[in-house]
Amino acid sequence: MAEKPWGGRFSEKTDRIAEIFTSSIDVDRRLYAHDIEGSIAHCKTLAKGGIITGEESDALIQGLGKIKRDIEREEFEFDEGLEDIHMNIEARLVNDLGKVAQKLHTARSRNDQVALDVRMYLRDETTVIIKNLIRLREVILDLASAHIDIVLPGYTHLQRAQPILLSHHWMAYYEMFSRDTERFGDALGRINVMPLGSAAIAGTTYPIDRHFTAKLLHFPKVAENSIDAVSDRDFIIEFLSAASITMVHFSRLSEELVLWSSSEFGFIEIPDAFATGSSIMPQKKNPDIPELVRGKSGVVFGNLMAILTIMKSLPLAYNRDMQEDKALLFEGSDVLKACLEVYHRMLPKLSISRETMGRAVSSGFLNATDLADYLVAKGMVFRDAHKCVGEAVRYAVSKGKELQDLTIEELKAVSSLIDKDVYPLLEVDSMINRRTSYGGTAKRCVLSAIENGKARIKEEMKPYCKTGEKAGKKP
Ligand code: ARG
Repeated sequence: MAEKPWGGRFSEKTDRIAEIFTSSIDVDRRLYAHDIEGSIAHCKTLAKGGIITGEESDALIQGLGKIKRDIEREEFEFDEGLEDIHMNIEARLVNDLGKVAQKLHTARSRNDQVALDVRMYLRDETTVIIKNLIRLREVILDLASAHIDIVLPGYTHLQRAQPILLSHHWMAYYEMFSRDTERFGDALGRINVMPLGSAAIAGTTYPIDRHFTAKLLHFPKVAENSIDAVSDRDFIIEFLSAASITMVHFSRLSEELVLWSSSEFGFIEIPDAFATGSSIMPQKKNPDIPELVRGKSGVVFGNLMAILTIMKSLPLAYNRDMQEDKALLFEGSDVLKACLEVYHRMLPKLSISRETMGRAVSSGFLNATDLADYLVAKGMVFRDAHKCVGEAVRYAVSKGKELQDLTIEELKAVSSLIDKDVYPLLEVDSMINRRTSYGGTAKRCVLSAIENGKARIKEEMKPYCKTGEKAGKKP
């Protein structure tokens, strides 16, 4: 077992169970690349301040590069006695280079080091998530364009309410995922702040140029207060809350896909490639993917609750409780990325039953509001019109008819204001296309929403296209 860096102060060896209990290497080893990148920048900063020589810095950087290669080739032996990724790498560097490697940790502490690593890791994750959200929105725009002539009932209280275009329904999800994209972009601004050089809590006596380190690591900002820099985990809370809101959206979409694929609805069929069967009932095809996405939302919400609870009573500054943050963050991010990936693949392959959706619109008095609006146009106040139509619906129900099936005499008995010109207004096409208020379901509104959606994506992709990347390409 390797020597502990704090060995000088201690007269006993660490208890084996305590060692296992405190170790986080199984979780934080995935920070290795960011840890090494941060250490390389730290070497350069130390050399710039004359704290180590240029040759020493070069030797350390070379040694760190070799460790990175060894980890990638799985030729690095992780030691849980060395607690975490930071100490594992440092111990190996000392082993490889001797005395000079013992200078690496000058002017820093693991407290600012871990904050740096997590911020670097998370800004990469957030960038991937933003790009994948944009890709998903592109898929939704394609669905909206393809389904522009498909009508289905819009629901309130899960009761048929008014007819809508399926495209309009998809575009509602486009808006949700747009806000998510924005939220992650916003969070990125607060993730992308450089904490290194705050050392354990109070800063350092060494002449280090923190702005230089920030520049090397492409951080636009430097943490302003050393106490806050080592104790702040807001950026993780923010990331997991943005992830949770995105998962709410995924969960609602999933719930709809589960309902819509049931025999009761019959609106869609989940492609075989994305469904599973039952081990006992041969006829079954189950919507497991939407169900799992819906279920995994609970995991992400749970992780958000966990990090909030961990942080809520911690006195300043660093406390070991905070080590628990990484497992929550990694899992939250992994789950979200997996959901983005699977929906990106599955959504374009859904098969839509235009007929069943259309049939569901033709019954259930979905044109009742339109009849009331007709009466208002003829001079009746809306509340009276509402009452009148309510009576018409009651009458129609008693006759087993829909409003559009009532004769003109029957309608006139409800209100003498009604004429034959009412019938075209009770048809689905009119119900949809007369709803032209901005953001409404009329075809021309939805078509312009789709165009607007495309333009927004183009704008959002600009910063990524600068570096030669495209939305369609998997990051
Ligand atoms: N593994 C630790 C963590 O993730 C690194 C920081 C340890 N700092 C300390 N003072 N023990 O939080």
